[in-house]
Amino acid sequence: MKRYPALLIALHWLTALAVVIAYASSGNPAESHDLFDALIGQVHVISGLAVFALVALRLPARLLLGTPAALPAPRWQARLARAAHIALYALMLLVPLAGWAALADETATFTLAGGIALPLPDAHASWVEWLGETHETLGNAFIWLAGLHALAALVHHNLLRDATLLRMLPLKALAR
Ligand code: HEM
Ligand code: HEM
Repeated sequence: MKRYPALLIALHWLTALAVVIAYASSGNPAESHDLFDALIGQVHVISGLAVFALVALRLPARLLLGTPAALPAPRWQARLARAAHIALYALMLLVPLAGWAALADETATFTLAGGIALPLPDAHASWVEWLGETHETLGNAFIWLAGLHALAALVHHNLLRDATLLRMLPLKALAR
């Protein structure tokens, strides 16, 4: 069985982890009433920015390393999987960017843990207002699509019993 290159497997699972953390910590990072709120806000922004950084690494790595050929599947399934993957890549880029714009709409400055001020775009620019307003909706759509994608992977593994999930798993022993 031809597996995904190790780097792409690592980036896939690190991204999945960062997305789950960003979603679990979502709220308004610019509005903190106590230390706990402030901590959750930091976690949201840092994990969300990590999603962007990971996909910015992953797209060129994918181009350079390539991916294993698609497993045989009915045409509709192959098309649906491809469309879902493209949409997931788009959301990995767009949701953090929209979050960055939403943050600029909410506050003039945001200091990351460690004291670094996060550069923010001009809140008066019309693209910033517009993009910022889409953040919550896009973030929710992202989680739904990722959930359906994970469900499809489990259906392949448990019902169709093919190698779709195995070739994306990090451990060789598990992927046998
Ligand atoms: C994959 C990454 C991310 C996901 C899935 C995500 C998801 C969400 C969701 C679902 C909400 C709405 C929460 C609620 O109102 O109950 C939210 C709010 C917010 N997020 Fe994110 N977020 C991500 C990344 C980011 C990043 C990178 C930033 C900042 C740089 C950010 C800043 C904000 C802000 C300011 C809000 C409150 C304003 C609003 O609801 O539009 N987010 N996020
Ligand atoms: C937020 C979470 C996730 C995101 C954003 C995501 C995104 C993606 C993307 C974009 C691909 C296409 C890879 C490529 O060809 O370049 C992919 C492949 C894959 N993902 Fe995920 N994924 C997530 C979570 C999961 C989870 C939880 C599972 C398993 C339960 C999973 C299982 C797989 C499998 C098996 C493949 C390979 C599909 C194939 O070869 O056709 N993913 N994922």
